[in-house]
Amino acid sequence: MSQLRFLSYLSLPEIQRIVRRRLPVLRNGPAWTTGELAAFARQIPGIHFAELLLRQEAILHRTVNWEALNFEDKRVVEIGCGPLAGYGPLVIFCGAASFESAEPEWSWDLFDREVISAQYLRVMHADLVALYGDRMSFSEFTRALKERMTIHETSFESAPIKNPVDVVLSQSCLEHVFPIENIIARLAKIQNAATRFVHLVDFGNHYPTVSPFEGLYDGPPEHYLARRGQAINLNRAPDLIKLFHAHGISAIYVPTRVNDAYSGLIHPWWRERYDNGGLFTHLALFAGPTTP
Ligand SMILES: C[S@@+](CC[C@H](N)C(=O)[O-])C[C@H]1O[C@@H](n2cnc3c(N)ncnc32)[C@H](O)[C@@H]1O
Repeated sequence: MSQLRFLSYLSLPEIQRIVRRRLPVLRNGPAWTTGELAAFARQIPGIHFAELLLRQEAILHRTVNWEALNFEDKRVVEIGCGPLAGYGPLVIFCGAASFESAEPEWSWDLFDREVISAQYLRVMHADLVALYGDRMSFSEFTRALKERMTIHETSFESAPIKNPVDVVLSQSCLEHVFPIENIIARLAKIQNAATRFVHLVDFGNHYPTVSPFEGLYDGPPEHYLARRGQAINLNRAPDLIKLFHAHGISAIYVPTRVNDAYSGLIHPWWRERYDNGGLFTHLALFAGPTTP
């Protein structure tokens, strides 16, 4: 896929953000502006995270008899929660004792802006009340977020998260971390056999192309990384499940979207290493244990 074609798949704010971050002077600067975060908050309703988890747990329940997570009084950790605190507000509303995350792009200062409170948290609170009951008022909700959410502005490997934790979540994060081995090794340190976890991993190219695999398999992974930079690590589902097991984490693997309608180029490097399941699993869950 050419650079121009790649840009044609993105919205204007996405292109602006990429261009801004590529300017050498800004590369290590704040990743998000208030305007960008407010635009993102309008795009992604907070209830999105509850909907994601409900869907993922429904699939796990159907396939492996999964018993739903209960956040009451639990220590919850999320890898790479994103600039809007990811699952944090949901689990705090549902009674978690604490929510901790490591997110290099996090900024409390931006998250604390009135525009985020008015356009994101207030709507999310109303939706959470409808879904889980009137557990807390809006002012109690925002106070609880300040008191019980800790988000380290750093990578997960280096975040001072104390073990053991009760629940670990991640949403479309494990495909973005480099090197993935360090993250799984860190997970093994903060988890014990009773720690429940759900990781959703997106193995696609992350562009709205007809096939999610367009461009991914044109050559060996290092070619893609050289062209696109370290955006996705190109591990496939079989690599990830092997890594979990190698680190003593009994993860169950459940593909949640398989899309084999891809007729583009597949370089022998990929064919020699993966079967169709490995190549065409777009979304998958890595989870465990099935009951508390
Ligand atoms: C696609 S975003 C997903 C964000 C959020 N989970 C969501 O669903 O909106 C991937 C996130 O992983 C974060 N990330 C990348 N490497 C990381 C690392 N080593 N430790 C923690 N987070 C990381 C990025 O900053 C980014 O916010």
